[in-house]
Amino acid sequence: MGINFAVVILIIALTNAPSSASLVTFIFGDSLAEVGNNNYLKLSLAKSNFPFYGIDFAGGKATGRFTNGRTVGDIISAKLGIPSPPSYLSISEDGDALLKGANYASGGAGILNETGLYFIQTLSFHEQINKFQRTKESIKAKIGEGEANKLCNEAVYIIGIGSNDYVNNFLQPYLADASQYTHDEFVELLISTLGKQLTRLYQLGARRMVFHGLGPLGCIPAQRAKSSKGECLSQVNLWVQQFNSKVEKLIVNLNSHYYPSAQIKFADTYPAVLDLIEKPTAYGMITIILYYKF
Ligand SMILES: *[C@@H]1O[C@H](CO)[C@@H](O)[C@H](O)[C@H]1NC(C)=O
Repeated sequence: MGINFAVVILIIALTNAPSSASLVTFIFGDSLAEVGNNNYLKLSLAKSNFPFYGIDFAGGKATGRFTNGRTVGDIISAKLGIPSPPSYLSISEDGDALLKGANYASGGAGILNETGLYFIQTLSFHEQINKFQRTKESIKAKIGEGEANKLCNEAVYIIGIGSNDYVNNFLQPYLADASQYTHDEFVELLISTLGKQLTRLYQLGARRMVFHGLGPLGCIPAQRAKSSKGECLSQVNLWVQQFNSKVEKLIVNLNSHYYPSAQIKFADTYPAVLDLIEKPTAYGMITIILYYKF
């Protein structure tokens, strides 16, 4: 399924990596990757710090992960034999923990600043990159500029963002972006913004990046609820696939400018996740239980 596929892509990305024991990862994204930043955002309404989040995680308590168990990032880190980096906001700027990587992901966040605005507070991708810039300054102060540059060049950057630009922005008809743009215009805005953001990460020293494409968002419960029979919304899935193929082209284009000094990989999780949704029993999933908290 998607997770294994992502691991395969990551391992390809790591072919020339230093031994995994010293591998540093910086993680950017939304609720699919968050490990607890939003717990530190007092006003944020996008929180996962209550039951039944975390029931299958070590300790059985909610940690700020938007899942019953581990995130994809936790699983990839375990496969690589390294600890999953802690949430950026939980780490002191002065300590040595930052030298081992950090997770900037924030539930509700998007490529666009205005995405998820009704959650009041999230770390947008722009803000996450700002935080990484601060991290780099802290690392420089600790180990010197040369070593800091080396650490940032050798680290792997795992990025998964864009779902909320659909689910909590474009697909909400009462928000400005939905009424202002056609999908063609919206996807161009997302891609041009993402291009600048990945370029900014490159300028800050990122040389090995993996970007996770979007899954079939038309199949999430909130979207299915809009169809009369609870089916996947094919229009939404088409838009997502359009986004994914444009990101792939963007990455080919960026690689042509940066190769061989940098390599960006596109991890296409869409087909694997769709397969899981269509054939759950093939993956050992028999009953899907939905918990609602009112
Ligand atoms: C997001 O907001 C920041 C700070 O106001 C701004 O510099 C940046 O250009 C904005 N990015 C986008 C994509 O709108």
